[in-house]
Amino acid sequence: MSSLSVDHLLGIRNLSVDDIERIFQTAQSFKEVINRPIKKVPSLRDITLANVFFENSTRTRLSFELAAKRLSADVINFTASNSSVKKGETLIDTVNNIIAMKVDMVVLRHASPGAASFLSKHTKAKIINAGDGTHEHPTQALLDAFSLREKLGELNGKRIAIIGDILHSRVALSNIYCLQKLGAEVLVCGPSSLIPKGIDSLGVKVSHDLTETLLWCDAANFLRIQLERQDSPFFPSLRDYALQFGLTSEIMESLNKSIIVMHPGPINRGVEISSSVADSSDSIILDQVENGVAIRMAVIYLLAAQIER
Ligand code: CP
Repeated sequence: MSSLSVDHLLGIRNLSVDDIERIFQTAQSFKEVINRPIKKVPSLRDITLANVFFENSTRTRLSFELAAKRLSADVINFTASNSSVKKGETLIDTVNNIIAMKVDMVVLRHASPGAASFLSKHTKAKIINAGDGTHEHPTQALLDAFSLREKLGELNGKRIAIIGDILHSRVALSNIYCLQKLGAEVLVCGPSSLIPKGIDSLGVKVSHDLTETLLWCDAANFLRIQLERQDSPFFPSLRDYALQFGLTSEIMESLNKSIIVMHPGPINRGVEISSSVADSSDSIILDQVENGVAIRMAVIYLLAAQIER
């Protein structure tokens, strides 16, 4: 069975275009499986996966759990807040103890950029990065690009805007790498305080004007304002932010064109986008969530193919 060119999924940066295409092709097959009455295949009955989450999550943790179960793998869930981490146990000791219970694969969410890469060098399990601080969130970018391809076809030459809190976002960097590898043009938009200095060196356009951005793009991915990572104010108030960068039905109607609206979740309704847009036919937010299970099945399946057994 062909697998990936990498031993772990740590980020999009080190994936090849062939890797991304293989993940999409595999996810397409699994999407068909999970739409059948019996949504399960017996492929990974001999694999055990641990979800190790040091930060809160709804979509990523649940969809990794469901993805593993749909592949017939065993799953255990670790949440730092009710664990022996509270008694001072380190990340490596925590994960090595979990691996000692015959766990093959660890899905890690952690607040520190590089945590997944660090673990991959100090443990024996396959590591999947489920978000490392403000660095990368590779499966989110894969499911975003997969969802966009369903709507737009090939992404080569397509114009995709990423709008909002780019500075604190792991979704932004993984999306930039993934979309550019697939040939799309990327623009980031937000207040200058939330756009990292020098981001244009990644080959992205920068705008501070929402309407100009929406007129330019085929699809717009709105990112959450991450108040939990902002230790000082980056804009006067949420209301001021929403007035300048929040998407409303009125703005959508004024464009005289259709665009695809995305959001990785969780949404601050009325801040990044209004409820009327989030719940409209322009929004593919729940398609993103649905595709997250198929993409994560593909990643688990392709990495499991490298495990000797
Ligand atoms: N998009 C995303 O990562 O959502 P969760 O934080 O709920 O996993």
